[in-house]
Amino acid sequence: MDIIIRKDADAAADLVAKLTINAVNAKPALTLGLATGRTMEIVYDKIVEMHKAGKVDFSKASSFNLDEYIGLEPTDENSYRAYMNKFLFDRVNIDKSKTNVPLGMAKDVQAECKRYEDAINASGGIDFQLLGIGMNGHIGFNEPMSSFSSLTSAKLLNEATIKVNEKLFPNPEMMPRKAITMGVKTILNTKKTVLLATGESKAEIIAQAVEGPMRASCTASALQMHPDCIVVLDEAAAKNLKMRDYYDFIFNNSNEWAEFR
Ligand code: F6R
Repeated sequence: MDIIIRKDADAAADLVAKLTINAVNAKPALTLGLATGRTMEIVYDKIVEMHKAGKVDFSKASSFNLDEYIGLEPTDENSYRAYMNKFLFDRVNIDKSKTNVPLGMAKDVQAECKRYEDAINASGGIDFQLLGIGMNGHIGFNEPMSSFSSLTSAKLLNEATIKVNEKLFPNPEMMPRKAITMGVKTILNTKKTVLLATGESKAEIIAQAVEGPMRASCTASALQMHPDCIVVLDEAAAKNLKMRDYYDFIFNNSNEWAEFR
C-alpha cells in the first residue's frame, strides 16, 4: 500500500485523475471500477478537462460501478447511474453500453448480484478501481461487519451512512435503506485500486483503515491485503497518521512517483 499525501483536496484529486488517465492510456480497453460520492466529483471534473484537452480517449474502455441503491430507477436523479451520467459518462467519449451499474430495480436482487459479479469476471476483471471511504470505514456499501470474502451482494445501510447520504435526497425519507454493492472480495480482486479521501472528517477513519488492525468493522482496512493499492489523501485526511514521514520518504524516493513530484 502506498500512501500519498498532497497539500489539499484539489491536488489530491488531480493526482487521482492523472493516475486514472495514465491507466487508460497504457491500456485503452481498460476495465475501470468507478465510485460515486462527493469526494469523486472533482476527480471526474478533472478527468473531463483532461479528456477535452485531448489527453485521454475512453472509446475502448468499459466500466463497472461499485454500487447502486435498491429501489431507484436508473433515471432517478439520486441513483448512482444518474450520478455517473452527470459527472462522467455524458461528458467523455465512453461507450455507454459498456458502462455497468448494478440494477437497483431488479426484481430478483440476488440474481442481479450474481449477474453483476459474473459480468465483472467475464470482462477479465477490473484493471483499475477508484474508491472513496465512508465515515464508518465502508468501501462501496460494505458496511461494518461485511465479510472480507463477500462478493457482490445486497446490504442494509447502517445509521452512519444513512445520516450522511440522506442529506443528498430532496426528502431524507426518500433515501433507500438497501443497496447492491461489489463485495470486499470483489474489490480485493481488482488488479489495482486507488482510494481517495479528503477533509478532516475522514482523518480518524483513514488512520484506522491504513494503520489500524484489519477488521470487518472497518471494511476499508481489508485494503491492507490488496496487492496494489494506493491511498491518496490531502493533509487534512492524513492528519492522524503516525508513519507520515515514512510515506513521504517513499513518495520522494521511489521511481514510480518521480513524474508526480
Ligand atoms: C460510492 C461509494 C461509497 C463512497 C463513500 C464516500 O459509490 O461506494 O463508498 O465512496 O461513501 O462518499 P463521499 O465521497 O460522499 O464522502
